[in-house]
Amino acid sequence: MVQIAVMGYGTVGSGVVEVLNTNQASINRRAGDEINIKYVLDLREFPGDPVESKLIHDFETIVNDPEIRIVVEVMGGVEPAYTFTKRCLEAGKSVCTSNKELVARHGAELLEIARERELNYLFEASVGGGIPIIRPLNSSLTADEIIEITGILNGTTNYILSQMTHEGIDFETALKEAQEKGYAERSPEADVEGYDACRKIAILTSLASGCQADYEDIYTEGITKITAEDIKYARKMGRAIKLLATSKKENGRFFAMVAPFLINEMHPLYSVNDVFNAIFAKGNVLGDVMFYGSGAGKLPTASAVVADVVDAAKHLHRNIMTFWSSRKLELTDLSDAKRRFFVRVKGNKKTDAIKMAEIFGPIEVVTAELAGEFGFITGEYTEAEYKERAARTDAVIHMIRVEG
Ligand code: HSE
Repeated sequence: MVQIAVMGYGTVGSGVVEVLNTNQASINRRAGDEINIKYVLDLREFPGDPVESKLIHDFETIVNDPEIRIVVEVMGGVEPAYTFTKRCLEAGKSVCTSNKELVARHGAELLEIARERELNYLFEASVGGGIPIIRPLNSSLTADEIIEITGILNGTTNYILSQMTHEGIDFETALKEAQEKGYAERSPEADVEGYDACRKIAILTSLASGCQADYEDIYTEGITKITAEDIKYARKMGRAIKLLATSKKENGRFFAMVAPFLINEMHPLYSVNDVFNAIFAKGNVLGDVMFYGSGAGKLPTASAVVADVVDAAKHLHRNIMTFWSSRKLELTDLSDAKRRFFVRVKGNKKTDAIKMAEIFGPIEVVTAELAGEFGFITGEYTEAEYKERAARTDAVIHMIRVEG
């Protein structure tokens, strides 16, 4: 029997217990042993809950129990999750987590501790909810140099943008629905400002590059400035607005960013709607590959955590994760990235389009039957050049980057 402990009995923690109970027989068969939850750690009481008899409030019980071989850390946040994880690994216990913030910040160190002790620190659920992406990057795409990873990595914002586009509901209502469905982070700011997607692309960039990509270095813009008017223009252009997290290797150097993009219907991520996430990767020999599935929510995320528990149980004395070094990855600057830009400006198409073309160069004008404004798509140039051109007029209402 493999005894495990679950730290955190929130949305994901209770999902882990539910998945282990629902699929007990097949999980045990696949793990080659019986997996038993011995403890559930949480500060709160859960009277009448099936885990009541396993509930503990003191972490020391877990770390000092030699029977516990695997610990599930689904507490979220950096502390005390970091200290608890480190101590569990140092005490000879493998750890499985959904905690992207912790993996993004301290992944290199925790992976190294696990490797030294022939244990595992597994974090499939930290990126893409239920989608297997870490395991493929770790063990399937190993013949390739990964030169691009672009994804819709946040279910909450994808849900909000989809609802705004297809149901015509406003931002606040869509956010509330996402929270009720258990997709959102404790603080919705982490979702809507793009911080959650930023941590996830930092993890994927660290895995792809083998070095520590610091999320503070990644340019991040959320969806809070996206309005119903922007969506009208997008529909008029036959495009969708998606919050993309992207990481590319060009001339031997990595570039990463998170921002809303206008993508056309030929783009592989165009039809990824609602809470779904998708991750598109490009290998230098493989070409393109795409992963698609439920990107958030209690059970999809718990499913990924439990898959890690099965893997950890099958490899109790063997480290199976590729690690990345703590050497800092120097990312290239956003200002050098080249692309087209969609710009909304105050004015009248007939009288002001020529003035805009003088500033922004050749433009494709777009209208969405909105009074006192029009939009256009520029030619391709760098972010620095866009900034310099936009500074020459006070007519700009909003800019959204164009992909494809
Ligand atoms: N809040 C996250 C999301 C949960 O919406 O994608 C999954 O990481």
